[in-house]
Amino acid sequence: MRILGIETSCDETAAAVVEDGTRILSNVIASQVEIHSRYGGIVPEVASRQHLLACIPTLDRALKEASMSVAEVDAVAVTSGPGLAGSLVVGVNLAKSAAMAHGLPLVSVNHLEGHIYANWLEGNNRLPEFPLLCLIVSGGHTDIILMTGHGEYRQLGRTRDDAAGEAFDKVARLLGLGYPGGPVIERAARGIEKPRHLPRSWLKGTDDFSFSGIKTAALHMAHELGVTSENPSPESGRMAAEIAAGFQESVVEVLVAKTCEAAQRHAVREILLAGGVAANALLRKTMVERAPVPVRIPKPILCTDNAAMIASCGYFRFKAGKTAGWDLDVDPNLRLV
Ligand code: KG4
Ligand code: ZN
Repeated sequence: MRILGIETSCDETAAAVVEDGTRILSNVIASQVEIHSRYGGIVPEVASRQHLLACIPTLDRALKEASMSVAEVDAVAVTSGPGLAGSLVVGVNLAKSAAMAHGLPLVSVNHLEGHIYANWLEGNNRLPEFPLLCLIVSGGHTDIILMTGHGEYRQLGRTRDDAAGEAFDKVARLLGLGYPGGPVIERAARGIEKPRHLPRSWLKGTDDFSFSGIKTAALHMAHELGVTSENPSPESGRMAAEIAAGFQESVVEVLVAKTCEAAQRHAVREILLAGGVAANALLRKTMVERAPVPVRIPKPILCTDNAAMIASCGYFRFKAGKTAGWDLDVDPNLRLV
């Protein structure tokens, strides 16, 4: 069964065709990073305009690369939330038009659930086994989820303030490292032998996270050391990189320790990582080294936003009979649980 997936929740216009929820036939992503980096973050109005410009060519390319026409797919899956309203609405209307024109079923997908399903794509032959623990770390969310079956989720913990990716983005900005924060912090931290120590926020006795304290500590440290983002001296640049490395270390240590502890407590069979921050090499390596059970992490291009994950999730929802009506609307605050 072939599912066409469409994703426009944030700043990537994406379309993909996936077979049986696991095999990628095409996966096209039109990134807006270059445009938004001029502003140091995502400008919602610019994002929705870009989606309008890019959505048809992206869809055409995804179908061409899969050597298919829309009429040949079995269903159309689309992200309906959470995300930016003006961005989501472009994808949802594109999906509705394509499905309606060809008499195809429409499936709505929660973006976070899509991130989890990136772990079903192109894995080795062994698919994830339930019960499993999922750490979702994206620009808008940081959640620990217990997954007991397809579509069965229990939220164990969440961030109480900033999401992990949001903290990466904010700290990169205050250190003058650019946008998006995750990749630039990772690059700056590479080769730093003595990262500056930043505090860890444990919220002991809970599966919750907090990242705003680390962010504020990084800001104070940058001020104290005289790190400046405008015309930085080589010395200032080096100190910024040391703070970046310390920040990355702190976030990774807390994410890994709390996920491993929850995995043990709930006796899960494996741990899944999902979301843009799961592209981080230190997080990937540390999680694999410390986890009490096998760890599965999508390759980096499938961690950040893409439509293959939406098509995969759409396949499992479709198989479970969960189709959407033509009155499907976007829900910028859609929750997984
Ligand atoms: O999942 P995603 O692509 O979009 C959302 O659903 O939010 O995640 C984007 C977030 C951004 O905050 C970005 O800075 C972060 O993921 N990110 C990373 C890395 N690549 C992307 N964070 C840490 N290390 C990375 N290599
Ligand atoms: Zn995402």
